[in-house]
Amino acid sequence: MARNLCDPNAKMLNHAELVYAPGERDLVARFFRALGCRVLDPQTDPLPENLGPAAGPYLIIYLDAGDDDVIDNLFYASEVLPVQWEFEKSLRAQLSADKALAEAERAMRKNFAQQPQAMTHLGLAFPSVDELEAAVERIGADPELADRAQLSKIYRPGEPGHADERVVQTFVHTDLCSGGVLTTGQQFELQVRLDL
Ligand SMILES: [Fe+2]
Repeated sequence: MARNLCDPNAKMLNHAELVYAPGERDLVARFFRALGCRVLDPQTDPLPENLGPAAGPYLIIYLDAGDDDVIDNLFYASEVLPVQWEFEKSLRAQLSADKALAEAERAMRKNFAQQPQAMTHLGLAFPSVDELEAAVERIGADPELADRAQLSKIYRPGEPGHADERVVQTFVHTDLCSGGVLTTGQQFELQVRLDL
């Protein structure tokens, strides 16, 4: 079974739109570079020909570091809009004021590392276990990411908690960016298929 990514008519996931908090653009780029992605910042890097000036607000995050397609197989990350940031600030104030709400949020966050497969996430395909392990090491060793990215264990076939013999998986949860509510963060899965 091969991936069908070369078929121009294939229906597939093509991108995810992420947001980050004001002032955290560089740290978000650092996180995705540690994950092994190539990150282009149109605000500071030379603009490639296939990227228009409208790209300015967005970090262009190529999942495959050798890719230059700006439409498929990407994350885009931009600063959260004021309308969402106001909501996030209100939510954070409420979390500070309401102990029961804060406890529920803490328990949910903790569960990202305990039952990662069953919690929301975006999945990245890695070409080899070596590359997956290298990404885990980079994230774990970066002091700037220490409080901002939490790794789960690596799930290997035959080991406790492993979900499928065809894959090796690990997960990282971060509050640096999100495809939804920023305050509760975003989990990513790093996955290697063993059946290809
Ligand atoms: Fe998954």
